[in-house]
Amino acid sequence: MNNAMIEKQLSHRTVREFKPESINEEIVSKLMEVARRTATSNGMQSTTIIRITDPLVKRQIADICKQEYVVRAPVLFVFVADCYRNMRIARDKGCFEESAGDMDRFFQSVTDTCLAAQNVVNAAESMGYGALYLGSTLNDAQKLIEVLNLPELTFPVVGLGIGIPNQEPALKPRLGNEFKVFENSYKVFDNYLESISQYDEEMQTYYDLRNINQRVDSFSNQIISKLTTASAKRQEILNVVRKQGFILKLKDPHETIE
Ligand SMILES: Cc1cc2nc3c(=O)[nH]c(=O)nc-3n(C[C@H](O)[C@H](O)[C@H](O)COP(=O)(O)O)c2cc1C
Repeated sequence: MNNAMIEKQLSHRTVREFKPESINEEIVSKLMEVARRTATSNGMQSTTIIRITDPLVKRQIADICKQEYVVRAPVLFVFVADCYRNMRIARDKGCFEESAGDMDRFFQSVTDTCLAAQNVVNAAESMGYGALYLGSTLNDAQKLIEVLNLPELTFPVVGLGIGIPNQEPALKPRLGNEFKVFENSYKVFDNYLESISQYDEEMQTYYDLRNINQRVDSFSNQIISKLTTASAKRQEILNVVRKQGFILKLKDPHETIE
C-alpha cells in the first residue's frame, strides 16, 4: 500500500553532513516551484524564501545557529513569514489597513511558511537529497533580521539546508500514534511517564550522529533537559515579532465596532 512518496516520508531522517558538491540549479528551481505551488491560507501567499549564497552571510547564520555544520550545507534557505508584500500591495492601492500585520495574518503567514518549507523538504527527499531544518536561526532572531535586511511585517521562521547526504543517520524513534492521534476529542492519559515507558526505552537505543559514541537519553529526560534550559534570547522572540511591526495586542471582547 506504500507508494514511493510514502516510503520516502516514512524513512525521513534529518541530515546534518553533506557532500561538498552543490545541487544542480535546475533542481533548486524545481524546489522553489514546489514552494510556490504550496497551499496558502486565504490565498495570501504570505511567505518568502531567501536563498543564502554569500559565504559571509552563511557564516553569520551558522554563528547565530551555533551549529558549525550549517556552513557545510551546499544549499541554504531561510523561510520568512511575509506580510510586508501584501501590506505594500494594499498601500499602493491607497489602503492602510492595520490588519495587514495583526495576529491572524501573522499566524496565517507562519503556517504558510512552514507548509512551503515542508513541501520543499518532501520534494528534496523524494529526489534522494538530505534536508536539515534550522530552528536555531531563532537563537538570535533580531540579528538574523538585520543580516537578511528583513523589512517590517516579516519574520524568519526557519532555516533549511539541503544537499547530498554524507552520512546515514538512523531512523529516530517517534512516540506512537496512540499518544498523538485521537478521535473526536482530546485524550488525557492518567500517567504519562508510565504510558510512554516503552518509548523511553526505545529512544535509548538510538544513536545521534552528532555524538556518535553515545546513545541518546530517554525521551522523558530529553523533555526535562529541554524544558529546564530555556534560552533568554529565545524567550524574547515575541518582542522581536512586535518590533517587526506585528500587532500582538489582544482584541478587547467588549470593544464595540462603530
Ligand atoms: C522546526 C524544526 C527546527 C529544527 N531545528 C534544528 C536545528 O536548528 N538544528 C538541527 O540540527 N536540527 C534541527 N531540527 C531537526 C530535529 O532535531 C529533528 O527533526 C528531530 O530530532 C527528529 O529527527 P529526524 O528528523 O532525524 O527524524 C529541526 C526540526 C524542525 C522540525
